[in-house]
Amino acid sequence: MENNKFNKEQHIAFINRQRELEDLRLFIDKEPAEILFIHGPKSSGKTTLLYKLFNQLEKEQKLDVKFLNLREMVTELADDFDYKDFLRMFFQVKPEKEKKEKLSAGINIGLFEIDAEIEKNMLQGKSDPFKVMKEKFIQLRDNSIKPVLILDELQALDKIYMNNGKGKRLIIELFNFFVAITKESHLAHIIIASSDGYFLNTVHTDSRLKKSSRFYKMDYLGKEDVMEWLLNLENYSRIKDYTLSQEDAEKIWDTVGGSMWEIQDILTELFNTPIDETLTQCKKKIKEAIEHYIGTDMRKEKVLQVFLENETARIRDFVPGGIGLDEIDGLLQDMVRSNILYFDPTEALYYPQGKSYQWGIKLYFESIS
Ligand SMILES: Nc1ncnc2c1ncn2[C@@H]1O[C@H](COP(=O)(O)OP(=O)(O)O)[C@@H](O)[C@H]1O
Ligand SMILES: [Mg+2]
Repeated sequence: MENNKFNKEQHIAFINRQRELEDLRLFIDKEPAEILFIHGPKSSGKTTLLYKLFNQLEKEQKLDVKFLNLREMVTELADDFDYKDFLRMFFQVKPEKEKKEKLSAGINIGLFEIDAEIEKNMLQGKSDPFKVMKEKFIQLRDNSIKPVLILDELQALDKIYMNNGKGKRLIIELFNFFVAITKESHLAHIIIASSDGYFLNTVHTDSRLKKSSRFYKMDYLGKEDVMEWLLNLENYSRIKDYTLSQEDAEKIWDTVGGSMWEIQDILTELFNTPIDETLTQCKKKIKEAIEHYIGTDMRKEKVLQVFLENETARIRDFVPGGIGLDEIDGLLQDMVRSNILYFDPTEALYYPQGKSYQWGIKLYFESIS
């Protein structure tokens, strides 16, 4: 029984996303002409969707997909980030024995491969890294392979961008390069994904990307999808030990909305715990996270209070709390960075990361009143 259960819990559902897959497929089928910024709350399925899409496309066309997860790359080198680190983000010296260049299509979790000589030249400023990347793209195109470069978790660069003048310049230069190879020379598709809409917007504005990029939003699942999932657990999650009634499903929707990882968490918990208790615990956990985040900072409390009355808010909606605009901006930025709030860069709207956070905020204020 125990072993059995473990297996069932491991099955990861994938629900719908037909429209998103279709939209992104159209983007890839067109000639590269703009940078695509995929934004959406944390765990809204951006990375999963990109993997799904390129796994499908790879079977149909010759692609070279470089998938760079910046969070994994940057953590060790954030503090004194310099040009050498920047190069390490994109290039990898390949071992001598593999020197003969053979271009093959596929999804690569990783970097541009170069030989030691080129690296040395780049470090000495004799060779331009952007030219090296561009040449790789040209080679691929000449071999009828479509190059795609994906930078996932762009927000991992925020510390470098905000605190390091050199870092900021390099990142802006990188975006200029992206404009050149999309809008100007149509060489490669560039996709940037991030759950920090605030940072995306900052980079977007600083790099003057208005006419050379497009935002695409990935949100949590809609109600119809969630109901379809929860009322067909065996089908989507291979759960045979229990089924959910319409009423149970509604309760789950009411607690976490379409947030997939929270739904998965709840489904796992339901093997052992009755539904009402599971959902109460779920809300309590977020309430405690909010409590911990606020600590003794009454300004944070004032900002979050706005969401008792409003589902979404613009920056001016926080002003009546008596805090100065600059300070509000800083607080909101911190809340977005801490994944308490989401900032939608196309609408300039702030709102809690999903339904469970709305509950958490509500319960926090109930507990202190
Ligand atoms: N279409 C989907 N249906 C069900 N679960 C999904 C779906 N897409 C993603 N998930 C799950 O949601 C969680 C977060 O997905 P992820 O792609 O990492 O989000 P993001 O990259 O936006 O932070 C993962 O546990 C993933 O398995
Ligand atoms: Mg992701």
